Amino acid sequence: MRISTDFSIDKLPDVRNPRPGHADLAGILKYGFKEARPVLERASARETAMRVAIGAICKIFLRELKMRLLSHVVMIGGVESHTSSLSFDEILKNLSKSKLNCADNASEKLMIEEIDNAKEKKDTLGGIFEVIVEDVPPGLGSYAESDRRLDAMLASAIMSIPAVKAVEIGEGIESAKKLGSKVHDEIFYSKPKGIYRKTNNAGGIEGGISNGENIIIRGYMKPISTLMKGLNSIDIATKEAKKAATERSDVCAVPSAGVIAEAVCAFVIANAALEKFGGDNISETRRNYEAYLSGLKA
Ligand SMILES: Cc1cc2nc3c(=O)[nH]c(=O)nc-3n(C[C@H](O)[C@H](O)[C@H](O)COP(=O)(O)O)c2cc1C
Repeated sequence: MRISTDFSIDKLPDVRNPRPGHADLAGILKYGFKEARPVLERASARETAMRVAIGAICKIFLRELKMRLLSHVVMIGGVESHTSSLSFDEILKNLSKSKLNCADNASEKLMIEEIDNAKEKKDTLGGIFEVIVEDVPPGLGSYAESDRRLDAMLASAIMSIPAVKAVEIGEGIESAKKLGSKVHDEIFYSKPKGIYRKTNNAGGIEGGISNGENIIIRGYMKPISTLMKGLNSIDIATKEAKKAATERSDVCAVPSAGVIAEAVCAFVIANAALEKFGGDNISETRRNYEAYLSGLKA
């Protein structure tokens, strides 16, 4: 079989009618291009494939420190999944049967209907994904320097995924509407359990530091920007009205964005763990981690 090695961008058709919601127009204006082809090829979410590969290695490292991560879809097309009563392992088990990486199999059927409807109308959908990190030790991140806050690093990583327009940690969005007494996770102590909380509205981070609860973080994704019916745009050369260009396009990419989010969170948490525990080989890192945990227990 002959594999072509000629991937020249010059062989692809010009894109003179920029697509709203993409970098097309802003990229043309910024770099002085005559059309959007160089913008859309470079701005493509295909770059996230490498981040997922790196995240997979970070997940293996985190397993050595007993931490596990998962991502799942919690909303598409206004249809929500109901998973608050499920454990980490129950969510994982349900995901293994899911097409959309959604742990609520009844809601998933409705989400698929919404995607099919949008596709028929040549429209697109966004939604919400969630990443859960289990068994995170307290003490990752820092309140002492703004750029070492764990919440800031995770939010930045998730916002860097194309089409993500908002990030929520724990009950962040709902908590803005509530009284403090209904939001903050009160602290209890009993023997032999030790210090514990009855709720995790903070999503596992207080003051920029992991507090020992599961980290729960959500990303809100806008609908895919390329609509097969073409939104209003202009020809950038003539300035005449023209429908936006249509490249091959997904209808909804929320499940994939969740997988990317899981990978970038693994990267951030692995870095924070290495900063906290150090070590030049995995045995040393694990020893430092275990010594820290025994210190906390003592
Ligand atoms: C996994 C994934 C797949 C995507 N697939 C498409 C696609 O097929 N078509 C499209 O127009 N946008 C797609 N996007 C979204 C665009 O990359 C995004 O809308 C564009 O970069 C503009 O978003 P921004 O304003 O957040 O940068 C995808 C995004 C992700 C994360």
